[in-house]
Amino acid sequence: MRRFLSRNELVRIHVMGTVGKVIVFHDKAGLVSFVTRKWHDICTESLDERGCMTVALSGGNTPVDIYRALALCDFPWGNIQIFQVDERFVPKDGKASNYRMIRETLLDVVSMPEKNIHVVDTSAPSPDDAAKVYEQELARFFRLKPGRFPRFDIIMLGLGEDGHTASLFPGNSLLDDTNHLAQAVILDSELHDRITITLQVINYARHIIFLIQGAPKAFALKKIVKEKDTTLPAARINPVDGELLFVADREAAGLLTENAYERGKS
Ligand code: 6PG
Repeated sequence: MRRFLSRNELVRIHVMGTVGKVIVFHDKAGLVSFVTRKWHDICTESLDERGCMTVALSGGNTPVDIYRALALCDFPWGNIQIFQVDERFVPKDGKASNYRMIRETLLDVVSMPEKNIHVVDTSAPSPDDAAKVYEQELARFFRLKPGRFPRFDIIMLGLGEDGHTASLFPGNSLLDDTNHLAQAVILDSELHDRITITLQVINYARHIIFLIQGAPKAFALKKIVKEKDTTLPAARINPVDGELLFVADREAAGLLTENAYERGKS
């Protein structure tokens, strides 16, 4: 891990148990640089071992600059399979569409075969129908037997101020669903109805990377990292056999203890 982290970018690392780390950066440039290097390392490993890298991308605002930076990297995009973590049930060209953001920041920039892009079909008659179709695509691509879960190489997650991640919101019974790969989430009109991969699918990933920026996320991150408050869905992210990274800027990590690795201290 340390070989990724140049000293002028890193503020500190908080170790969380055996699988988790919170890596805190001075600024967005350091955070972006780390994520692109991490992707490169995982891509090399994935292609060596399996001939392709499978990735699931979240929406929202935080990842925009990360996806733009990844698009400028010289990855073997023909060997990368892109899926969505979640989607709002809106038209693909809608302002609120996660697909639209991912296409504009990444997919339209890199040369990637359309067959490598697996998105939620929001033209389906209902969120439930869209979730079923997406679940079938996951099962098809990963050649899953019933009851099995896909194992993504990378899942990129964001964190809501309420501790949600993907479209797994506090108090939603979906969090305990162990029978599905994707589910519909019916929310109020402002948040849009959603389709999301389930907690089980996320926890089967090899590398789970949270991207967290800004002071508004600090309270949620503290409840996850210090208090392990599992009423927050993001605190339920716990890889079965994988790596969990919270990649944060100083503002988002502002409420975490200082008793972690500090730049310049051993
Ligand atoms: C979505 C995302 C969602 C997001 C968080 C953080 O569809 O909105 O998948 O889970 O990651 O809400 O969003 P920001 O990055 O915009 O703060």
